[in-house]
Amino acid sequence: MDEITPGAGLGNGVATGRQAATDPFAAFGLPVLGLRDYWYPVLAAWKLRGKPKKVMALGEELVLFRDGQNVYALDNRCPHRGARLSLGKCQFKATVSCPYHGWTFNGAGECVAAIMEGPESKIPGRAKVKSYAATQRNGLIWIYLGDGTPPAFEDDVPNLIADRSTFFTISAWTDYACNWRVLADNWTNEHHGPYVHGNAPELFFQPVPPFNLTLSVVDHGNGRSMGVRGEGGINSAEFPGLGSFPPSKWHRFMKPHGRGVRGNWHETPAYKEHGVQTPTQSRLPGMVIVARPHAEYFLIQWLLPIDANNTRLFNINCFKRMGLWREIKDRVHYALYRGWAHDWIFSGQDKKVVESVIIGPEMLSRTDVGLIGWRRFVGRHAHKDAP
Ligand code: FES
Ligand SMILES: [Fe+2]
Repeated sequence: MDEITPGAGLGNGVATGRQAATDPFAAFGLPVLGLRDYWYPVLAAWKLRGKPKKVMALGEELVLFRDGQNVYALDNRCPHRGARLSLGKCQFKATVSCPYHGWTFNGAGECVAAIMEGPESKIPGRAKVKSYAATQRNGLIWIYLGDGTPPAFEDDVPNLIADRSTFFTISAWTDYACNWRVLADNWTNEHHGPYVHGNAPELFFQPVPPFNLTLSVVDHGNGRSMGVRGEGGINSAEFPGLGSFPPSKWHRFMKPHGRGVRGNWHETPAYKEHGVQTPTQSRLPGMVIVARPHAEYFLIQWLLPIDANNTRLFNINCFKRMGLWREIKDRVHYALYRGWAHDWIFSGQDKKVVESVIIGPEMLSRTDVGLIGWRRFVGRHAHKDAP
């Protein structure tokens, strides 16, 4: 087994000594609480109604509230005596009022009234809580988790989400009891598929995908995304004294699809029309975009670090708009099959494994080329503009 030393030849954020030994991600400059200064999805839009709502994101506790289609995000702590604004009320238009003494804040975080001090109070204009840019798109609430002026939403998120005239989306979400970095690594580890997902409904009638691939990292050159190319590989192997993998099964009679197009990806509509360079791309600040060669469907799995030990995963299914009947068919197919088969069962197989990972020293091997590439990519490009 080849041993690869994490951190070798890296620039910013390289940890040394004990920190690098116990937190291998730190060696690459991947912070525990996620990457700041990006837009993130935080909540399904329907979950935010007339009452303020608490959300955790990148280790911070925020309160969300809405006024019609306008949504607002503030630090959840009242500057008066620390009560949680999320336990208060939206008593006046486009504001949230603290449950303790009624200090009332607008969407910019400015105190506009201190109810228990009466209308003559001097607190308004002096008290303020931190506010975050927030918006409602694609059935989700999004927040710019950072400081300074946020980039335009459309410029920061994948085109599949921003371009609503070409794609519509159906989203689901699941909370994972693990650090975000463990989940992001899962997406660039091409070798776990045949082992973890061998009995997934999506692959049930197909041969188990090849393993022992020769992996290489493809930098997409945009400062935002990279992919992993896998070539060669074997479909089965005999392990002396143990037996064969995978065990042969009567139901694997269909031809493989999806992965089978790997060799001629550059001929696909996904590449030609949408410039998708690899079938899966890992993208900052923490998502994987899985493309189908026909480019009529993409899956974005976008993670939101909640705190050091919890991560929310949004499965944002992007369907190309191809007329009303096709949209109905896509929605029914998602509701009856895909949402269950992929977002629930397939992702659930990964969830079980990644939640079991104990972060500590690692012995990386040939299967880990992609995740080393990803960690290096984050260390080099997080917070930086495209070249
Ligand atoms: S603690 Fe919020 S108004 Fe007093
Ligand atoms: Fe997986």
